[in-house]
Amino acid sequence: MTEPRNRPRTEPRTESGPSDDAPAPDRIAGGLQHARQRTLTLNGFEDAELTRQHSPLMSPLVWDLAHVGQQEDLWLLRGGNAACAGLLPLDADRLYDAFRSTRAERAGMPLLSPTAARRFIAEVRGLALDRLAAIGDPAPTDLFPFAMVEQHEQQHVETMYATHQLRDGDPLLGAGAPLPAGRSVPADAVLVPAGEFQAGVDATYEPWSLDNERPGHVVDLPAFRIARVPVSNADWQRFIDDGGYRTRAWWSERGWTHRSEHGLVRPQFWQADGSRRRFGLVEDIPADEPVQHVCYFEAEAYAAWAGARLPTELEWEKACIWDPARGRRRRWPWGDTALTEALANVGGQALRPAPIGAYPAGASAYGVEQLIGDVWEWTSSDFLPWPGFRPMLYAQYSAPFFGGDYKVLRGGSWAVAASTIRPSFRNWDLPLRRQIFSGVRLAWNVEG
Ligand SMILES: [Fe+2]
Repeated sequence: MTEPRNRPRTEPRTESGPSDDAPAPDRIAGGLQHARQRTLTLNGFEDAELTRQHSPLMSPLVWDLAHVGQQEDLWLLRGGNAACAGLLPLDADRLYDAFRSTRAERAGMPLLSPTAARRFIAEVRGLALDRLAAIGDPAPTDLFPFAMVEQHEQQHVETMYATHQLRDGDPLLGAGAPLPAGRSVPADAVLVPAGEFQAGVDATYEPWSLDNERPGHVVDLPAFRIARVPVSNADWQRFIDDGGYRTRAWWSERGWTHRSEHGLVRPQFWQADGSRRRFGLVEDIPADEPVQHVCYFEAEAYAAWAGARLPTELEWEKACIWDPARGRRRRWPWGDTALTEALANVGGQALRPAPIGAYPAGASAYGVEQLIGDVWEWTSSDFLPWPGFRPMLYAQYSAPFFGGDYKVLRGGSWAVAASTIRPSFRNWDLPLRRQIFSGVRLAWNVEG
């Protein structure tokens, strides 16, 4: 998503979102609290770190800090009416409207100080929780705005991780929590036979799904093959060594122009000496980790070099959740049980993708692994509405971005929260972006 976006050493390893067993309002209150804990830990540094613009691509961290509160104020306390007085004076409130400024401008605006921002978002949160508690016997539609706000804050947490990754200076976040070991996985592709599946979701199935994930609809796809695992750093090194960045034939016209104008020769944060920068650390590039920080144009070129293509987002979704034996969707690739740390790498604490093959139990019905978490996977699809799309309360969330400018990414990265990611979740970004935690999975046509 282009805009609508140091852990403490004491933070537990587990992705401690709300329990699935709790009543829905308690679950949402817990989810809001979990999001806030992550926001505050990524902003738990000296003021100069928070007010500095680390990259023109990103807002100063203190903007994101106050913006999550301003949006919570707007959607939960003002019912979405920006003309209605909020907790901030109108002039200050407007500073945090993402559509009124570019990220590059924000460091020069009269933003709240970090202390004032923390006080503001705490005050909003207190009032919002009062509103939540006051809803007697809530229906899912009563709770949706709260779940939407929780997801919005979690999306900004991921954006703040990207800001930290772009920051120069000594490490603030540490090296990240341990991850499961990888394993040797055949570098093969699985066949997804031709046939119908149900794409997208309805509110009855996923009450907290956002507007662009809805409605569910039946799609008939031709057979295709899709890679069992994402493209690794070792794979990408072979592309580099084979002259992939210098060979015009692998690149689209727009991609070649972009690569030439911006001097792309390796993924972002890889260095010429074979090391990489990661949250202020300089380290060897792990061969068996999914590649990340590549843009759509690079993904497209890599796929062409590999004799493959990128999957469409519908192919990705079918490979992820369709259960062909039962003729129905699964909630997750592995089935209907909740996401745990044995199944996927999410939650942000690892600060990196897990090695290839780390989650055999997370495989989909077709045997595809690591679809959820690790890296967002570029698809070949433009960001467009599903048939029957209806905007949600936050009507500007998706609709302004539909069209040919943005490419869809699927599956979530290591930085997403478990409560934010779903197999139906659709992320989008410009094809040149690579400060995001984006990687690649290949697909192939099946002849005949
Ligand atoms: Fe936002």
